[in-house]
Amino acid sequence: MIKTAVATFLFLLAAALGVLIYVMFSGVYNIAATEPHNPLMKWALHITMKNSVEHHAKDIETPADFEERETAEGFAHFDEMCVACHGAPGVEPLHFTRGLNPEPPDLAEKAKEWKPAQLHWIIAHGVSMSGMPGIINAHAKQEIWNLTAFVADLPDMTPQEYARLREQTKPSGHRHDPAESAHDDAKPADDLEDLFAAPHEADRER
Ligand code: HEC
Repeated sequence: MIKTAVATFLFLLAAALGVLIYVMFSGVYNIAATEPHNPLMKWALHITMKNSVEHHAKDIETPADFEERETAEGFAHFDEMCVACHGAPGVEPLHFTRGLNPEPPDLAEKAKEWKPAQLHWIIAHGVSMSGMPGIINAHAKQEIWNLTAFVADLPDMTPQEYARLREQTKPSGHRHDPAESAHDDAKPADDLEDLFAAPHEADRER
């Protein structure tokens, strides 16, 4: 009886390994972003991402003043670096992002599913193989907490409030070159360049 169980287990293991090797080396699996993930793959990726974020964020302490963080700075960073992909209340994401797979989710919906420490970790480190960039190499933790607080507030923000922030924050404090800060024609290329900018040495000491 035990022998049969062991033999069955080993057979299944070998079969699973065989399928894995076939999928990896035959090239039949379609990695095109235009192909929807099959439901099993989608589920596996989602669970892996969720558990990874929970695990890595478990020792991060949320600052005591999280609720009263600098909205203006958080907004400036969001409007420069994130809105192109994620959109915002009353703002559509840029068209090219509809070709990403997974599509960048609407954070006004998704932000509530995460605790502040988890949001902070996702924003700082990004999600590999998804298009979601990590910004920790170019931004100080303080800035990332301000941005995190802003993202956590998105579910309660109206399109009018977002538009008002855009009005108030012109010209943006985020750009490295003030001459480029005309906000209305946001240039995504600059924003992405910003993400990979060298670390702000002065910021890091804060
Ligand atoms: C190039 C496009 C792109 C940019 C720019 C981008 N993101 Fe993302 N983001 C994504 C994608 C794609 C996902 C989905 C990742 C996944 O589910 O595996 C994501 C996921 C997230 C999540 C997790 C939401 C969830 O429940 O899946 C948060 C939070 C987030 N992004 C915040 C930000 C912030 C803040 C910025 C700006 C610093 C930003 N993102 C910039 C593409 C982008």
